[in-house]
Amino acid sequence: MAMSFPGHRIRRLRKNEGIRRMVRETAVTVDDLIYPLFVRNGKNTEIEITSMPGNYQRSVDLLLKECEEVARLGIPAVILFGIPEVKDEFGSEAYSEQGVVQKALRALKKEIPELILIADVCLCEYTSHGHCGIIKNNDVDNDLTIEVLAKAALSCVQAGADIVAPSDMMDGRVRAIREMLDSGGFQDVAIMAYSAKYASSFYGPFRVAAESAPQFGDRKSYQMDPPNTREALREIQLDIQEGADIVMVKPALAYLDIICRARSMFDVPIAAYNVSGEFAMIKAASKMGWLDETKAMYEVLISIKRAGADLILTYFAKDMARSLGGKI
Ligand code: PBG
Repeated sequence: MAMSFPGHRIRRLRKNEGIRRMVRETAVTVDDLIYPLFVRNGKNTEIEITSMPGNYQRSVDLLLKECEEVARLGIPAVILFGIPEVKDEFGSEAYSEQGVVQKALRALKKEIPELILIADVCLCEYTSHGHCGIIKNNDVDNDLTIEVLAKAALSCVQAGADIVAPSDMMDGRVRAIREMLDSGGFQDVAIMAYSAKYASSFYGPFRVAAESAPQFGDRKSYQMDPPNTREALREIQLDIQEGADIVMVKPALAYLDIICRARSMFDVPIAAYNVSGEFAMIKAASKMGWLDETKAMYEVLISIKRAGADLILTYFAKDMARSLGGKI
């Protein structure tokens, strides 16, 4: 029969750090981290992103330097976002061999072959209207868009991407990309799908960083409605059926319940995106002296792991890696 107080005293195992370490149920390790980076044209250029302190739009040469440090810190992977020179209605730089991300991928694969390169595949950074696809009749046309996304994915893989990560939320894009990669001889390249991506206000700082805010309307006709859970599970299930190797929930913090539900239902690795707004909130509050940045970072990342994520995309990746190395 279960004993209660005073037979049980839960505090015994909280007595000191040594005991707490022994009974700790969850850990974040450097292997879990994926670091998002922004690349732009030019040389020796780095422009700080005001909405995301410590993050920069970098030219390829400086991106290389940054990635050397990322690799030195033991972070296994980066995900790249491009800021193109010119944007057009069709987002053509997304699939250009001379696109800025393609250039970065070639350079990185050559110089730091062990670093896993993930290419975010979407059109919003590349379209003049800022939407994640091709516009027809004032809305994003699904079927036209997935063809372009498949071309973009293939060109990133040809340039050296190890994993492609479609973040557009079109229906059927995972299958379209899988087929395109397979027919191009890249059947071994994995897809990490942004499967349950919500129409969230927490992307605000990223849109400043990537210069990708929609010029009209919003993304609600393709990104998910925040109140929905079952729909997220359907999205994830369909992406797995279409060939996703890793599925993602995004944002992470306001959607920990979705991560948890997905973890209990699916056996594929789950990634969670600790997005720009979640990062900016901590940065801003700690700048005001209202909370301890390192402790808040740790608590947030551990909560994402505890909810069930295997991988965390986070702008804190370098800080966390340093902190895990015992330097904080
Ligand atoms: C592009 C994309 C977005 C993010 C990642 N890929 C923005 C959006 O959908 O507007 C957001 C990342 C972040 O906020 O950190 N589709």
